[in-house]
Amino acid sequence: MDNPFTIESVRGMMAIDSRGRPTVKASVRTRGGLGTALAPSGASRGKYEAWELRDRDPARFRGLGVNKAITNINSEIAPRLVGMDSRRQVLIDATMRKLDGTPNLARLGGNAIVAVSLAVAKAAASTAGMELYRYLGGPSARTLPVPLMNIINGGVHAGNELDFQEFMVAPVGADSFREALRMAVEVYWSLKDLLKEKYGALAVNVGDEGGFAPPMRRPEEALGTLVEAVRRTGYEPGSDLVFALDVAASQLYDGDRGVYRVAGEEYTKYELLDYYVGLVDQYPVVSIEDPFHEDDYEAFKELTERLGRRILVVGDDLYVTNPERLRRGIELGASNAVLVKVNQVGTLSDALRVVEEAHRSSMRAIISHRSGETEDTSIADIAVATNSGLIKTGAPARGERTAKYNRLLEIEDELAGEARYPGEEVFPGRVS
Ligand code: PGA
Ligand code: ZN
Repeated sequence: MDNPFTIESVRGMMAIDSRGRPTVKASVRTRGGLGTALAPSGASRGKYEAWELRDRDPARFRGLGVNKAITNINSEIAPRLVGMDSRRQVLIDATMRKLDGTPNLARLGGNAIVAVSLAVAKAAASTAGMELYRYLGGPSARTLPVPLMNIINGGVHAGNELDFQEFMVAPVGADSFREALRMAVEVYWSLKDLLKEKYGALAVNVGDEGGFAPPMRRPEEALGTLVEAVRRTGYEPGSDLVFALDVAASQLYDGDRGVYRVAGEEYTKYELLDYYVGLVDQYPVVSIEDPFHEDDYEAFKELTERLGRRILVVGDDLYVTNPERLRRGIELGASNAVLVKVNQVGTLSDALRVVEEAHRSSMRAIISHRSGETEDTSIADIAVATNSGLIKTGAPARGERTAKYNRLLEIEDELAGEARYPGEEVFPGRVS
């Protein structure tokens, strides 16, 4: 009768994200607990993502207000969820999807639904008196993720001329998450010194994800600088730290002419593919995300055939955390990794399903933030819960990024001797 997990209230309210844009915050109260969650927001969004509902009232927040999404929580979603058992995540998510009635959550808003979905899980965990990673992952959740730390920002995340969006370092030589974070922070500082020396003080302003946004153009310049920064810190590129790229190629693609533009030059997809092979030969790059635009499964497949035994080929905009799109990628062999962003698909249970499907097909799942983030740390718990072994959550700077790293430190501390840090085994060809 008196079930402590029963949802008593669901409330939506406004918050602002790391770019100052309005976003949705949801709080779910059960008889015995409380969970709150905030929706993040991307800038280089895939066209197949769940819909972010904005008010489009130019008089407020330049049209980016989220009052409609919040009203949808309070007037439509809340009455439907009150009385349900907060542990029934799959049913609750399906209920919201059905209530919305559109394939991409355009009516109620993916931003409204994702905030509620995550808040439900947190409320259930709190009611159970469990940490979120334990509640979601059960007793086997104990793998801390290797962080892919975006320390040079480009593309739409930065005001420079670097076309590739993200240049990341992964501290694979560490034997704990704590040590990995230390290594990456030290490299971040060396990089800062180096950039200041080479390009002057303006070069160390940071982009949306906390990485530096130096006045560079060519990817080789960024990668070469990373090699130098790693060495200057006293580490060895390729063994202590390895590199990852997010090209976010949909942003570089000229659909009319069928070419990609990188550093002022045009590349066909075949030329771009050869270019990637060259970069992987020349630098310790172990992962390339969105190397081609979001509809070109075939090009992804060719790159995976060429490099899939040496690096992760990661689909972000390609899959948009969508189970159907992932299935197509699996059937084709389009990639060997998938980026997982809960707000791309809109509900926690769908995102967890994508991770499961990926793991079943021996693909890596990388749990990821968005460029517009908040203090919400759910993704840290989700990474541990799923034992995904990989997380992408920006540079070790800016509070919305460090919140996730600090949460992972906390989880590692709590797991104590049980915690496991996988290191280089999460990348192909490097199984130790
Ligand atoms: P977004 O970019 O959050 O701006 O979409 C992140 C990414 O492309 O991985
Ligand atoms: Zn991406």
